[in-house]
Amino acid sequence: GWGGPEAVACGPALSLRPDGCSLRARATTLRLPHGEVNTPIFMPVGTHGTVKGIPSEELAEELDCRIALANTYHLGVKPGKAVLDAHGGLHGLMRWPRNLLTDSGGFQMVSLLHLANITEEGVTFQSPSDGTTMLLTPEASIALQNAIGSDVMMALDDVVDSKTVDDERFLEACHRTLRWIDRCIAANANPDRQSLFAIVQGGLDVSSGGLREACLHGLLERDAALPGFAIGGLAGGEDKGSFWRVVAQCCEALPAHKPRYLMGVGYPLDLVVCSALGVDMFDCVFPTRTARFGVALVTGGQLRVKGARFRDDPRPLDPACGCAVCRRYSRAQLHALARSSDSLGPQLLSHHNIAYMLGLCRRMRSSIVAGPEPFQAFVRGFLNEYFPPEG
Ligand code: GUN
Ligand code: ZN
Repeated sequence: GWGGPEAVACGPALSLRPDGCSLRARATTLRLPHGEVNTPIFMPVGTHGTVKGIPSEELAEELDCRIALANTYHLGVKPGKAVLDAHGGLHGLMRWPRNLLTDSGGFQMVSLLHLANITEEGVTFQSPSDGTTMLLTPEASIALQNAIGSDVMMALDDVVDSKTVDDERFLEACHRTLRWIDRCIAANANPDRQSLFAIVQGGLDVSSGGLREACLHGLLERDAALPGFAIGGLAGGEDKGSFWRVVAQCCEALPAHKPRYLMGVGYPLDLVVCSALGVDMFDCVFPTRTARFGVALVTGGQLRVKGARFRDDPRPLDPACGCAVCRRYSRAQLHALARSSDSLGPQLLSHHNIAYMLGLCRRMRSSIVAGPEPFQAFVRGFLNEYFPPEG
C-alpha cells in the first residue's frame, strides 16, 4: 500500500519515502547519494554542466536546488571523458555538491541536432563543427554517464519524432528501446552509486494492446534491475489531451514505490496537471530559456519585462515570490537592465524563474501532503490565477 512512513529501496543507491498522496498525486522524499529530494520536483537544465546564468553555489545554496540535469552528449564532446575522469566526474569539475541526473544523449542528437542516424548498434552522429562521426551505443552512453558520475542515469532510448515517422518506425523504436535497456543495465559499472532509469516510449497510442502498453509491459519485466522510470516521447509539442492521456496511462501502470520522471516537461500548467496524475520529477529548459528572452514567470502567468508598462513600476517581479531577486530588485530596475545589453538582466530573471518553479513544486507538495481537499483547492486556485474569469 501507499502512504507508510517507511522508505522503500528502489535500488542500491536510491530509496523513496512516501510522504503523502492526494488522489493520484504523490509527495515523496527520494534519498540519493548527494542528499534528499522532495517531490514533486522540477530539475533545472544545465546542458554543459551549469545552469546558464546561475553559478553552482547560488543554485545550491540560495535556490536550494537539490537535483539538476546535465546532458551526456554535450559533456562527452566537451570536456570529454578524460577531463571528467581527472576531476572526479562532473560533481568535482563543477563543484556541484547536490544530485545530478544525466540524459543519455540520443534525444539531444536526434531531436535537437537533426543529424543522427539510428541503427541497432546505436545512434550515429556527424559533428557539425569538424565532420567527424560519433557512435553513441547504449554501452558508450552508460560509460560516459559513469564518467560524469551522475546520481541518476538515463537509458539510451530510440527517440522518434512523432511528426515525421510512420507506425512501423514507432514499433521498431519501442522494441529497440527494450533491447537497449538490457545493454544499458549490463553496462552500468557503478550500480551501487548510480541509479539507471528506463524510459517508456511508444508514441501517443494509449489503447489496450497499443504501443505504450507494450513498452510499459516490456520495461516492467525488467523492474528488478530498474530503480526508476521515465516517460519519454512527449516533449515535442503534442496536443495537451493526447499528452496528458499518455501520462495518466503510464502513471497508472508504473510501480507505486519507484520514482516517475516526465522528460522535457514543462510549463507551470503541465507541472500542476502531471503532478496531479502522479508524476514525481520534471525538467525543462523553458524557465531559463524564456528568462534569456526577457520573460519572468509569475503568479498567474508571465511578464515581458521590456514592456513599457514596467518602466517605473516599483514592485518586485512577483510580490508572492520572496527570492533574492524579488527581495532586492524592482520591475523598473529589471526593465532598464532588460533594455540594456547587460548579461545581469537574463541572469536575474533566470534566478527568479528557477525560484518560481521550485516554489510551485513546494506549494504543490505541501497541499498534497495536507490531503485531497487542500490539493484540490491548490489546483483550483492555480487554474483561477492562470485563467482568470472575465470581468
Ligand atoms: N527528453 C525529452 N524527451 C525525451 C525522450 O523521450 N528521451 C530522452 N532520452 N530524453 C528526452
Ligand atoms: Zn522571485
